[in-house]
Amino acid sequence: MKVLVIGGGGREHAIVDALSRSPQVEKIFCAPGNAGIARQAECVAIRETEVERLRDFAAAEGIGLTVVGPEVALAAGVVDCFKAAGLRIFGPTKAAARIESSKEFAKELMAKYEIPTAGFRAFTEYAAARDYVAGRPFPAVLKYDGLAAGKGVVIAQTMEEADSALKDMLLDDKFGEGKVVVEDYLEGPEFSFMCFVSGHRVWPMVLAQDHKRAYDGDKGPNTGGMGAYSPLPFITAEDERFALERILQPVADAMVAEGCPFEGVLYGGLMKTAQGIKVIEFNARFGDPETEVVLPRLKSDIVDIFCAVAEGRDTQLEWHDFAALGIVLASKGYPGSYEKGYEITGLENVEGTVYHMGTKADGDRIVTAGGRVLFVVGTGRDLAEARAAALRDVERIGCDNLFHRTDIGHWAFEK
Ligand code: AMP
Ligand code: GLY
Repeated sequence: MKVLVIGGGGREHAIVDALSRSPQVEKIFCAPGNAGIARQAECVAIRETEVERLRDFAAAEGIGLTVVGPEVALAAGVVDCFKAAGLRIFGPTKAAARIESSKEFAKELMAKYEIPTAGFRAFTEYAAARDYVAGRPFPAVLKYDGLAAGKGVVIAQTMEEADSALKDMLLDDKFGEGKVVVEDYLEGPEFSFMCFVSGHRVWPMVLAQDHKRAYDGDKGPNTGGMGAYSPLPFITAEDERFALERILQPVADAMVAEGCPFEGVLYGGLMKTAQGIKVIEFNARFGDPETEVVLPRLKSDIVDIFCAVAEGRDTQLEWHDFAALGIVLASKGYPGSYEKGYEITGLENVEGTVYHMGTKADGDRIVTAGGRVLFVVGTGRDLAEARAAALRDVERIGCDNLFHRTDIGHWAFEK
């Protein structure tokens, strides 16, 4: 089978890598891909949001399965477009992807089906939002209602911070026109629970944890994610059962009941609070960088899973016991402004796996081309071994303009 992966980051590199382990795959294409993906797939110069061009490419090449990585492609309606043309594609329709693209849709669905989550209210008017926030305890959780690449959430400690965020989101339309959701503040360790979903069918993946803040000690601004690891020692089997039976399965059922059955990866961003496990957010796709530590642990043939989801039939998932821990190497300045085009050396000396997040070929050289540039994955019998392996490989990579966190996995090592 010929397969097309849509996207060009670390997540897509991990998906391409998993596909390359399947004996059913004859050839992998990736649009647009990156310099690392180009070693395992043929990169095609079509952007994630050019859905008609992607469809025409898939039809012309005889692609048997297309896998969607990023949310922007889902929100652009790539799945609807492929399905209308009778092409097999793994991912939710635009209507089902609202669970991620609209915080208000997700919050209302959770309220209606009694899924545990933080209390909330949505606002379109700056003044009404400001008055509401002023009358409540701090910290205040403010979320822009739309896609903002993980940067649309502000945890404001003071009214001044809250006011400036509300002005950005509602007066200056920093992320575009949209509402703001104001939520109750929750506390506890966060974890990512991704499930393959096909209508009522839900197949859980192993758990992972992302590190959203830019700097060690979970300090600094929110990012798209600075590292991840799997498994999670602080989440019990009972927690996992609760999350599956009380959150992921009922949400899959709710989407069917609402007339927009979910097909693809449903990602629960969950928090283990003193009052139980609650939903922070849903994503309608593989998490990035969680996928880069979860898929290496998948023992089953991923093509069987993608096809079972697309065709609505049963399958089994098997997992390796080893631990995986990955560290993001990001451009200095990220998640703010940063420069591109710095040469990366030493990749050939790495012993584990490096997924490329934002790289570009420049002649024979590989250069930085994004905020998050590389994701270095170590594996081992336990997380300590996996972390040591990842840190050793980070030292083998040379580049003048990259930084990384040194404390990925700290929740697992401290608790
Ligand atoms: P989100 O994009 O919704 O996942 O939010 C980004 C980050 O903000 C989360 O990973 C949490 O660390 C934090 N966050 C979001 N919602 C809440 C909340 N209700 N209470 C506390 N922290 C939150
Ligand atoms: N790691 C968080 C996300 O993929 O949104």
